[in-house]
Formats: sequence, structure tokens, C-alpha cells
Amino acid sequence: MKIGIIGGTGGMGKGFALRWCKNHQILIGSRDAQRAQESANEYTQAANQAYGSISGSISGADNNSVAEQSDVLILSIPYDNIDAVCSGLLSRVKDSCTVISPIVPMTKTDLGFEFLPLKEGKPFSHQMVQKHMKNKNKLVSAFHVISEKKLIDPNYTLDYDIFVCGDDKEAIDTVNSMIGEIKGLRPIFIGSGALAYQAEIATPLLLNIMIKNKMKNPGIKIL
Ligand SMILES: NC(=O)c1ccc[n+]([C@@H]2O[C@H](COP(=O)([O-])OP(=O)(O)OC[C@H]3O[C@@H](n4cnc5c(N)ncnc54)[C@H](OP(=O)(O)O)[C@@H]3O)[C@@H](O)[C@H]2O)c1
Repeated sequence: MKIGIIGGTGGMGKGFALRWCKNHQILIGSRDAQRAQESANEYTQAANQAYGSISGSISGADNNSVAEQSDVLILSIPYDNIDAVCSGLLSRVKDSCTVISPIVPMTKTDLGFEFLPLKEGKPFSHQMVQKHMKNKNKLVSAFHVISEKKLIDPNYTLDYDIFVCGDDKEAIDTVNSMIGEIKGLRPIFIGSGALAYQAEIATPLLLNIMIKNKMKNPGIKIL
């Protein structure tokens, strides 16, 4: 499967690439094709060091060409840049492409981390991304409650749940199986994409818990 990562040069992009390159073709996307290639080379070295060898591959290109080629496309970009990045990009994806949003609308204030849709009345990420999609049902929200620090270290033992929201069974099944490929992660379905704010708000919740209680690497697990 070709898994494209828009903004793949960032911390989450590295984590996704390292976790899925064992079996898939990873396409790192960037606004700058050269930066994407440099990141792809760096991640390939890290993957070879961690796993010995990989059956998949990691390459880099500009965001638009990554979007056109991908079977699954992850939008690993900041919330503030959704409109700027997605307006020209999402019309280019294949009709069958599953699009994943891990994007968290969050800000840091004197109180701690706060959820922008509540604090400033802004739309949540799933709503903002969906506006730009041709095939709106192919959007799945997931991966808000796992930090890049845990994903980029293949030796870190994971034991967490990942909330999943979406409207298309095939797209949800694809994301569930990608989560299942990462040892120690389990997908937990919340419901329609219209409920994705419930997954997105879990990130500021976790970060406040982490800081106020001096907890290292908290995660979410439903018992
Ligand atoms: N970090 C975490 O632990 C974590 C955990 C859960 C969810 N998330 C969410 O996952 C997403 C990615 O997180 P991240 O920490 O990897 O983000 P990041 O490092 O801040 O940014 C990721 C990439 O987005 C691109 N980007 C940055 N500014 C941009 C702009 N003005 N316009 C267009 N593209 C821009 C950059 O790629 P190029 O410059 O190469 O184009 C950058 O490498 C975010 O929405 C975040 O809320 C993060």
C-alpha cells in the first residue's frame, strides 16, 4: 500500500513512517521536495538501524505529488494550516483514497492546554478538512492520543488505545488495520466523523494531566 504523509517532515510524520515502512511504501510529503527527500533518507537510515532491513520503502516528494499517488493519505500538519494546505491538495487524491486526520485544534494558555473549538468557537479539525474533500466519507480521524515521542522510538513498548471516527466502513477498516499493525496499539471506534471532536479534545486533556500530575508519557486505554 502507498501511504502518503503530508507534512511528513515533522515529528508525527517520522513516527508514522518508521512504524509502517516495514511493509508499505511510505511517501513523505513536504512543501519543499528536497526537504522531503532529506527526511526520507534520514528515516530510511533510522529504519534500517532499528529493524535491520525493511520490506517497504520511504521516499520523499512535494505534497501534491504525494497526494496524487497515495492509497492512504495522512494529514500530519498543524491545525492553523488546514485551509492553506488542503484547498489545492485534496481535490487531487484518488476517489478511493482514505484520508486520515490526526490534527488537534489546541492552544496553550495560562490555564494549560485548551481546545480551540470551545475556547474560540473555531471548527474542529475533521469539519475543516472535510470541507476540502471530494469524497467526504473517506475522511477518518485517528491518532490524536499517541505522541510522536512514542511513535518514533521502535523500541518503546506501546500499550494504548487510539480513538477512531469516520463514516465509511471500508475507510475505517483500513485505518483500523493500520493501527493494528503497530504492536501495542488498539483501535477504539467512537462513531461518525461528526463526533471526531471527542477524539480531538482528548489531546489537551492528556497533556494537562501529564503536566499537572508530573506523569511521564500518559496514554489512554479503555478497560
Ligand atoms: N506531535 C505530537 O506528539 C502529536 C500527537 C498527536 C497529534 N498531533 C497532531 O499531528 C499533526 C502533526 O504534528 P507534528 O507535531 O508533526 O506537527 P509539526 O511538526 O508542527 O508540523 C508538521 C509539518 O507540517 C508542515 N507545516 C508546518 N508549518 C506549515 C505551514 N505554515 N503551512 C503548511 N505546512 C506546514 C511542515 O512540513 P514542511 O515544512 O516540510 O512542509 C511540518 O514538518 C498536528 O496537527 C498535531 O496536532 C501531534
